[in-house]
Amino acid sequence: MRVAVVGGTGVLGTAVVRELGARGHEVRVVSRTAPATGVTEHRAADLATGSGLESALNGCDTVVDAVSARRRTRSVMVDGVRRLLEAERQAGIGHHVEISIVGCDQVPIAYYQAKVAQEQVITTGEVPWTLLRATQFHELVTEILALPARWRIAPHTTAKVQPIDVSAVATRLADAVDNGPAGRIPDIAGPSVHTITELADIYRNHSGRKLLPLPVPIPGRIGRALRSGALCLDERGEAIGIGYADWLSRLTH
Ligand SMILES: NC(=O)c1ccc[n+]([C@@H]2O[C@H](COP(=O)([O-])OP(=O)(O)OC[C@H]3O[C@@H](n4cnc5c(N)ncnc54)[C@H](OP(=O)(O)O)[C@@H]3O)[C@@H](O)[C@H]2O)c1
Repeated sequence: MRVAVVGGTGVLGTAVVRELGARGHEVRVVSRTAPATGVTEHRAADLATGSGLESALNGCDTVVDAVSARRRTRSVMVDGVRRLLEAERQAGIGHHVEISIVGCDQVPIAYYQAKVAQEQVITTGEVPWTLLRATQFHELVTEILALPARWRIAPHTTAKVQPIDVSAVATRLADAVDNGPAGRIPDIAGPSVHTITELADIYRNHSGRKLLPLPVPIPGRIGRALRSGALCLDERGEAIGIGYADWLSRLTH
């Protein structure tokens, strides 16, 4: 099958491209900037404007959307996915595979609200779809902890997350490509629920650095939702892949 992975140069997209390639699919990476190495086919396109989309999708059977934008989020991820779906419709794409976030409808953070709007565009769109919700990737946890660690600080809060290995997410998305349009499929997360304090301890032990614990109060509805575990799996989801401590230790071995 020929599969376009839009956002195929990002953290998730790279893992999806690798997994689909290993399964024998012809993979086309679509993003604004070409990857440095290792990709056989790249097409430039910008979801914020729609430029390049037509030629990017030409000849493909399936599209996986792994685009993320922390700035201009709605323009890229909500209006942008609308542009993407219209280009898919015109190109005769038979399956759109989308990744979203566990609990995004429970936590009033702007990025998560954009994911809810993005889900709606896909689930009410004309292109047959599969939608998978996953929890935060280990890479994101590390990014959140590495920044304050530069000032020797470890954030302490009882906000809960259940981070996942991105390769397990990529495997599920590749399964979705192989299985064809299936609608919303079961949510996935990593094996353990952790507070940020616990993850900061794991990170500190791994890095061997002395970090000063700093309480980080998260006020209001966002804080209540995060402390209640709104971003973690409920009983219908599935826990897969390796946990944060094992993932960190594999980074250095
Ligand atoms: N990170 C997490 O913890 C997490 C957890 C659950 C779900 N997700 C979801 O997984 C998806 C991927 O997230 P990620 O963290 O892997 O993202 P990422 O590493 O930030 O990668 C973003 C990708 O989007 C591309 N992109 C950005 N703006 C674009 C535009 N205007 N037009 C075309 N491509 C554009 C980037 O390439 P260029 O900049 O070259 O265009 C890059 O390939 C998102 O839907 C996110 O919500 C993420």
